[in-house]
Amino acid sequence: MTDLPDQMYAAFIDRCGPPDVIRYGTLPVPRPGPTDVLVRVEAVSVNHVDTFVRSGAYETARPFPFVVNRDLAGAVAACGPGVVGFAVGDRVWCNSLGHAGRQGAAAQYAVVPSDRLYPLPAQADPVAMVAVAHPAASAYLALHTHGRLDAGETVLIAGAAGHVGRAAMALARGARIIATASAADLETCRALGADVALDYRDPDLAARLHDAAPDGVDLHLDTSGHHDLDLATGLLAPRGRIVLMAGLGARPVLPVGALYTRDAQIVGFAISSATTVELAAAAARIDQLVSEGSLTPSAVEHLPLSAAADAHARLESGAAKGLRLILHPPD
Ligand SMILES: NC(=O)c1ccc[n+]([C@@H]2O[C@H](COP(=O)([O-])OP(=O)(O)OC[C@H]3O[C@@H](n4cnc5c(N)ncnc54)[C@H](OP(=O)(O)O)[C@@H]3O)[C@@H](O)[C@H]2O)c1
Repeated sequence: MTDLPDQMYAAFIDRCGPPDVIRYGTLPVPRPGPTDVLVRVEAVSVNHVDTFVRSGAYETARPFPFVVNRDLAGAVAACGPGVVGFAVGDRVWCNSLGHAGRQGAAAQYAVVPSDRLYPLPAQADPVAMVAVAHPAASAYLALHTHGRLDAGETVLIAGAAGHVGRAAMALARGARIIATASAADLETCRALGADVALDYRDPDLAARLHDAAPDGVDLHLDTSGHHDLDLATGLLAPRGRIVLMAGLGARPVLPVGALYTRDAQIVGFAISSATTVELAAAAARIDQLVSEGSLTPSAVEHLPLSAAADAHARLESGAAKGLRLILHPPD
């Protein structure tokens, strides 16, 4: 570890607040603990949750100065003495930094606990991997860990053309997929695996959904955060599940009778609370789909790490719609 520099460039905050609290400057290069890996960061994605952690909307431990963002791809620069399975130079990725007391990814170097680090599959593009990491791991946890989706079941994915929605369609293979999206995105949804794709602005959407799922929906996942639980519960099959994962401020009306008379469940989840075992299961499936080319990001825009504050502002304002913003630290 002696040839590591003392200082690195990083995007960090000294307090929570709007995007312009993010400073771009130098911090000491962190040193890995006994079971940690120090990663030389090549690419960092910008996610909605990174803006929630920065602003304070999502409560979590953030020791200041706090490096922002959670996902990275890069190469191993050094390993703690107790690390097994990684060596200097290995290509790696991680999607769980930047919350719960862990410093973030938006820096030239980042310390990653070895049980939160995954080898980059051979042939995988690090940018494509970091771009799909958060939406795909979230979709995996929603569908499989919390939604318990079985092959042959019917899943309704609302917001299917979004980043999480696209990944969810790839990860729900084997189920019957009903997608809702904007009219302009319906063909894309079909191409990505939807058996039925419906315009969410169609005034007859409710009737069309009932027609599309005559035996009911086994799993309902609304990634748009606009929860119409009146409609969702009415569509459910017996023992159906609704997974809530978006809409921090949503206060939907819940028709209780329609839920309990179906023996149905509503379960919420945040990837930030996922265990390392759950995250590793998601990572294994993501590796598989990325390697076979069936999980790819929508459009990617490359930005220097110094543009981190601007990237947060664009994501928050909706100006980055359809794009995955990827930050690159200087060499
Ligand atoms: N709980 C967790 O752990 C977790 C993890 C990851 C993400 N999330 C959350 O998941 C949400 C989605 O993230 P994302 O990156 O996929 O966002 P995104 O790319 O903006 O996707 C949202 C999609 O929803 C569509 N939409 C809007 N209103 C709709 C409606 N009424 N019905 C159906 N679709 C509708 C949008 O289409 P148009 O733009 O064409 O209207 C857009 O394609 C965010 O709120 C994020 O914070 C949560």
